[in-house]
Amino acid sequence: MKDRVVTENLTSDDITDSSIRPEYLNEYIGQGEVKENLEIFIKAAKMRSEPLDHVLLYGPPGLGKTTLAYIIANELGSNIKTTSGPAIEKSGDLAAILSTLEPGDVLFIDEIHRIPRFIEEILYSAMEDFTLDIVIGTESSSRSIRIDLPPFTLVGATTRAGDLTGPLRDRFGIISKLNYYTTEELTDIVKRTGRVLDCPIEEEAAVTLAKRSRGTPRIANRLFKRVRDYALVKGNGIIDVEIAEVSLDKLKVDALGLDETDYNLLKAIIEKFNGGPVGIEALASSIGEEQTTIEDVYEPYLLQNGFLKRTNRGRMVTEKAYRHLKISRQESMF
Ligand SMILES: Nc1ncnc2c1ncn2[C@@H]1O[C@H](COP(=O)(O)OP(=O)(O)OP(=O)(O)O)[C@@H](O)[C@H]1O
Ligand SMILES: [Mg+2]
Repeated sequence: MKDRVVTENLTSDDITDSSIRPEYLNEYIGQGEVKENLEIFIKAAKMRSEPLDHVLLYGPPGLGKTTLAYIIANELGSNIKTTSGPAIEKSGDLAAILSTLEPGDVLFIDEIHRIPRFIEEILYSAMEDFTLDIVIGTESSSRSIRIDLPPFTLVGATTRAGDLTGPLRDRFGIISKLNYYTTEELTDIVKRTGRVLDCPIEEEAAVTLAKRSRGTPRIANRLFKRVRDYALVKGNGIIDVEIAEVSLDKLKVDALGLDETDYNLLKAIIEKFNGGPVGIEALASSIGEEQTTIEDVYEPYLLQNGFLKRTNRGRMVTEKAYRHLKISRQESMF
């Protein structure tokens, strides 16, 4: 697990991430539509001296949701308080953080789909009326009190917008979907990382890295750091295309960004399930991965790039997958 580049868990490579994380919208590469909208809404909110509407950001891991939440706070000139769905276990956990809010603050809740349902209701009135209803006292003499909250902006992030309840989703005024980045955008991100880390990278090498980053800035930056080490030890510190290719091959990241787990997954469907369709549970257990990891981390990219198809009877590999894995359909029948 330690050496995985395609993982939703943070790796040691991510720890030094703060320096390469863009702080303002103009440094945030790609996601043009999302950026344009936010820019206008933020400007308008500032002109009216009102808090920005609540923002929901969704999309696959590593595309820049957390980064964008911090950028929103910076652009508003506000403080940001952060928590996450799994960290909120009792209603008191949410009440505690809500009661620390100051006027105009941004409250960032990562993995917001994981807030327990019974706590979600506290958010409704907080988001809608800026009030906090809490129950105090013991069971026999409990009463509910209402506390006024200062106006604030909730920024929620999720990889699974579909797991959000309707009432919660409806309370976000701005809902933005982040998409996988293009090779050109990732090339710019890689070059920017090179500048920030003061590590030169040649144009062609930047394109190579970009192509192998499965549309994801976090992966591009992870690959950059691995390749940088390689360039330092085996080369003269400059990342050229040769260094990039050799080190990425060593990391078992192929020309289209597929890694070992992608291969295992596609191969399993071909070899064990005759190309599919196969249900997600059976697939997950056959390759020893969590179902959610497949659904959130691997599958979206494979679907988007036409290696995998989802039918109502399960997942199927495509012709493109057979070609990419260099397996002929005939061969796989035996
Ligand atoms: N648009 C961008 N331009 C430049 N760098 C970016 C951009 N988006 C993300 N990054 C880089 O990618 C890294 C990962 O982004 P971030 O942590 O915001 O992803 P995320 O969407 O919150 O992921 P997760 O769903 O796993 O929480 C950031 O540290 C940042 O350096
Ligand atoms: Mg995040």
